[in-house]
Amino acid sequence: MKLTPEALRQANAQHMLHPMIDPKAVALAPPLIIDRADGVHVFDIDGRRYLDTVASLWNVNVGHNRPELKAAITVQLDRLAYYSTFQNTSNPPAIELSARLMQMFAPEQMKKVLFSSGGSDAVETAMKLARQYWQLQGRAQRTKFISLKWGYHGVHFGGASLNGNPLFRTAYEPLMPGCFQVEAPYLYRNPWGETDPARLARLCADELDRAIQYQGPDTVAAFVGEPVLGAGGVIVPHESYWPLLRAICDKHGVLLISDEVVTGFGRIGSLCGARAWGVAPDMMAMAKGINSGYVPLGATLLNERVVSAFEQPGVPAALMHGYTYSGHALACAAANANLDIVAAEDLPGNAARVGALLNEGLKQFMRYAHVGDVRGRGLMSAIELVADRTTKAPLIVGTPYVQTLVAEARAQGAIVRVQGNRLILSPPLVFTAADVDETVRILHAAFGHAERSVS
Ligand SMILES: Cc1ncc(COP(=O)(O)O)c(C=O)c1O
Repeated sequence: MKLTPEALRQANAQHMLHPMIDPKAVALAPPLIIDRADGVHVFDIDGRRYLDTVASLWNVNVGHNRPELKAAITVQLDRLAYYSTFQNTSNPPAIELSARLMQMFAPEQMKKVLFSSGGSDAVETAMKLARQYWQLQGRAQRTKFISLKWGYHGVHFGGASLNGNPLFRTAYEPLMPGCFQVEAPYLYRNPWGETDPARLARLCADELDRAIQYQGPDTVAAFVGEPVLGAGGVIVPHESYWPLLRAICDKHGVLLISDEVVTGFGRIGSLCGARAWGVAPDMMAMAKGINSGYVPLGATLLNERVVSAFEQPGVPAALMHGYTYSGHALACAAANANLDIVAAEDLPGNAARVGALLNEGLKQFMRYAHVGDVRGRGLMSAIELVADRTTKAPLIVGTPYVQTLVAEARAQGAIVRVQGNRLILSPPLVFTAADVDETVRILHAAFGHAERSVS
């Protein structure tokens, strides 16, 4: 069945539900249907070209349509598409990828990996293994999790219970008991009105310390956080924050889980986010950039401390967790080819260099009346939209200003995403200085248009 563009547009909302949007809204607005892509550009079914300033969903890091990935996937497909890694069967690409990951994250002293199908799975796996770790240590009462307000850890009941934004929680409550959120180091909005990033880091870390003491350290399994909060609006902490987190977790024996689903594999200028802050976590949840989204894949990495609990002689420690697609051969083959590119093209270095240009260029946007804050690190940036700079009242998706902004950016040839009241930029890590210039030019046109048409 080959549908015409019009038939595709009509059929879309009739049969398919879309994540993160009210189905009624999808039914009312014709969808943007992406048909093909190349490099940092995507093309819709009418052949219009757009600059992909969001790498689809922070994940197509090496760019679209890379011959190396397509070749790796097809070569693998000709040999073996899939065989399970349950119990004691395996496949070569998964074995190769596990060894490669341990080499890449040797500085963080990672020792083993459990594969899954995406970021939510990777977080769920980390949470379950944290609980099992404590059971194996004879401390089964350590079951609680602490995370950050504004944090995003996916959509499974575990991750959703960690999420620090009611938007992702309310419709699915009650969530998992024993999960608590503390303040994020969010300089633009924090309950103390603190404007110094180092002092804010200290205030937030102290709050975590108090929260662990209040719960009782012997009941807390792990703290889970993103090195730079992504979906929460690209909240970049002060450099002292993660070292403080590590110290507090160590003081109370609590595991530190870094959710690297967005920051993993280069986005903020280092191979993982924790490394950017000079911290080695106990577990890392990874996905997205592991194979740039060519085939779904998640990975949860465990350090020696966690692994050793499972390796105690004579202690039964079966991992009663895993997914049909854990270690999927095509996904792992794609990851191996993808990570070759990450290394060969020094994509973390490129993210640092080109990201610095992007973040510098975005500072000019403070000239627009509805921009309250601009921030970023590497190729991960946000422009925070406000109705009024004094009250900081959010200017959100669905308002005429935001609708005009997004529509004009699209008319000018770029896909941009506004989440809540934050315009988020998370381009492929192969972005160039010229791509940054193009992004900044289009955004100026879009902001100028929105200011003129809706004031
Ligand atoms: C930090 C973080 N963790 C977890 C997830 C969930 O990943 P997935 O959508 O692949 O399940 C996301 C998704 O954006 C994320 O940003």
